[in-house]
Amino acid sequence: MRRKLIAGNWKMNKTLPEAVELAGELKKQVGNVNDVDVVLCPPFPMLFSVGEIIKDSNIKLGAQNLFWEEQGAFTGEVAAPMLTSVGCQFVIVGHSERRKYFGETNQTVNRRIKAALKFGLTPILCVGETLEQREAGSMETVVTTQVKEGLADFSADEVAKMVIAYEPVWAIGTGRNATPEQAVEVHSLIRELLKSQYGADLANKFRIQYGGSVTPQNANELLQEEEIDGALVGGASLKADSFAAIIKAGELLSHA
Ligand code: PGA
Repeated sequence: MRRKLIAGNWKMNKTLPEAVELAGELKKQVGNVNDVDVVLCPPFPMLFSVGEIIKDSNIKLGAQNLFWEEQGAFTGEVAAPMLTSVGCQFVIVGHSERRKYFGETNQTVNRRIKAALKFGLTPILCVGETLEQREAGSMETVVTTQVKEGLADFSADEVAKMVIAYEPVWAIGTGRNATPEQAVEVHSLIRELLKSQYGADLANKFRIQYGGSVTPQNANELLQEEEIDGALVGGASLKADSFAAIIKAGELLSHA
């Protein structure tokens, strides 16, 4: 069985004192987690302090975005070596909110992934269709294109270092999660695509997370699916108790 990866995407939430409190509480509750991988993705200004709090625990640090250049005159941007220098091991790339509000395309996603890999960061590539696309019957085309173009020109060795998060846009922040069946259908589609492009060995080891209104209430039924290799959690990662409950659901299942 693939090891589950539970990541908390704090989005644009938490001031420094709030971030420190949340990270401290999570360290207390799940700092010695062993059977699943746990990643916190706070906003940029909080990365270092959160990293300091969790560095002697089993919780890892991730960022929510990065720019593809390594340094230079790019006001307001953050580069991969900056992220690694504050302790990041993961970075979310191509979240639907970045695609929707900040003009992110599959091509810019591809460049960001390249920069992440160059500096040893594990990219979490987010893909997923909108409700209109699903209702128009184009979910498969949309997701396939996002994966193919996002991963364009990467070798199998490079792809093996990544994670994909399937996040249907209609499920993000809406309280309406995809059913396990809906998630499994798309995860299988992505896995088949990886298999055809990079081989069965890579596809079988590759982790595909589900994201979109994951809560302690639905975590168990989603995570118990073999096809679902973890969760990318937004809202429910902002409170220690609810995020810890999701992590514990993942842990319990790893013993099942
Ligand atoms: P949500 O967000 O859990 O609040 O739906 C998930 C995400 O956007 O990663």
